[in-house]
Amino acid sequence: MQLVYHGHSCVQLSEGGQSVIVDPFLSGNPAAVAKAEDIRVQYILLTHGHGDHIADATAIAKANDATIVATFELANYLSWNGVKTIGMNLGGTADLGFAKVKMVHAFHSSSMIFEDERKIVYLGMPGGFLIYWNDLTILHAGDTGLFGDMKMIGEMNKIDCALLPIGDFFTMGPDDAVIAAEWLRAKKVVPIHYNTFPGIAQDAAAFSAKLKERGIEGLPLKPGESAELTKSAL
Ligand code: NI
Ligand code: MN
Repeated sequence: MQLVYHGHSCVQLSEGGQSVIVDPFLSGNPAAVAKAEDIRVQYILLTHGHGDHIADATAIAKANDATIVATFELANYLSWNGVKTIGMNLGGTADLGFAKVKMVHAFHSSSMIFEDERKIVYLGMPGGFLIYWNDLTILHAGDTGLFGDMKMIGEMNKIDCALLPIGDFFTMGPDDAVIAAEWLRAKKVVPIHYNTFPGIAQDAAAFSAKLKERGIEGLPLKPGESAELTKSAL
């Protein structure tokens, strides 16, 4: 399976002509290499409603006739833009045909803020996604702080690759993300949600070194870089 890191929390997974993108934030992200109009996917997974996670979701959904998968409130909100949505909630699993995605909890918030109208629209709980695709289990943790039930998620799943935020301030920082990786029993960790803005600058190499001390492989990717995920290589 090919994993492309598009920067920030945006990753694209592809295999056998099927493709899924998580948290598309390409236009407006100075670090992004790919353009939203070049993305070809069947599904768009959104962890929560913040602008740095949903920026290009509607445009990509319309251009591809793709379906957005998100929490019930966020999915309903976006459906009013005329896109196909699956509105689910925490603990539930959606069958995409070629893959199954289970929404797990994340400790964060989820809203859209309309500055001009001084209005905040709250969009339900934030989440993360466990993606079960062929023989691989991939976790996209979304935006979250460290929480104890990561141990439970680790006990219940054999996570081949975890995408964990390390930027700090809005999410976990690197030290907590190392603990998260241990609790999740992740074999491989791709750091996300860092170096996009000055406030979330982090040293990915130092993070990988800390993971290595605990027997976990760090896989920092620059925006536009990709990795091949295989069961045997893990
Ligand atoms: Ni957020
Ligand atoms: Mn974010």
